[in-house]
Amino acid sequence: MDRYLTYSRVQEYLISLVPPRNVEFQQMEAFAEQQDFPIIGPAAGYACYLIARMVAAQRVFEMGSGYGYSTAWFAKAVQENGGGVVHHTVWDDKLSKMAHGHLTRLGFENLIQFHTAEAVETLERTPGPFDLIFNDINKEAYPGSLGLIKSKLRSGGVLLVDNLLWNGRIFDPSDTSPATEAIREFTRLVTTDSEWIVSLLPIRDGLVTAYKK
Ligand SMILES: C[S@@+](CC[C@H](N)C(=O)[O-])C[C@H]1O[C@@H](n2cnc3c(N)ncnc32)[C@H](O)[C@@H]1O
Repeated sequence: MDRYLTYSRVQEYLISLVPPRNVEFQQMEAFAEQQDFPIIGPAAGYACYLIARMVAAQRVFEMGSGYGYSTAWFAKAVQENGGGVVHHTVWDDKLSKMAHGHLTRLGFENLIQFHTAEAVETLERTPGPFDLIFNDINKEAYPGSLGLIKSKLRSGGVLLVDNLLWNGRIFDPSDTSPATEAIREFTRLVTTDSEWIVSLLPIRDGLVTAYKK
């Protein structure tokens, strides 16, 4: 039975179950493929959208937004939840401008606040509380960001964090690089804090889904 259940086969199957996306979403997905840009992709994006709908999120803070692919999924959820705000945060001006174009063409421009800045510092100076925070920044900064994120989420809010499987590198004991160690440390911190209910969903590169009690 195991021979039918390879990891890549499961991931391809999950992507095939995501409903068709419009042209703008498709172009963003194609760009990631061509440029090897690490977006969350359709299966994790759709899961983020689903979770944002489930908690009726209207105040979303996104850390490490790139050119706006994950932002588009959160904006779609917030729009369908009755409107609100999605904070787009990336430190690269070119990516922020690209995101502005995509999100405007998708009709989400009124929902987005763009910050071209470091994400943790931006979260610190942005008044909360938030219904949902998504973290996809440089992995070395994951452990240090957790306390601030917790203080900015409402009770009953959700934290989503990408790359917790780290392409399998977390399982390699010889990999003690700062990013891999930071992912291990972050996973330990969030899963041992009794104020969170946590599951690491094995969608794409591993999506931690944490509910703040
Ligand atoms: C992995 S990409 C993810 C893109 C986006 N979340 C998506 O899935 O479509 C992370 C992006 O955030 C930027 N970034 C990483 N660490 C950051 C930080 N601490 N503050 C602001 N931007 C950051 C990177 O340069 C990159 O453009």
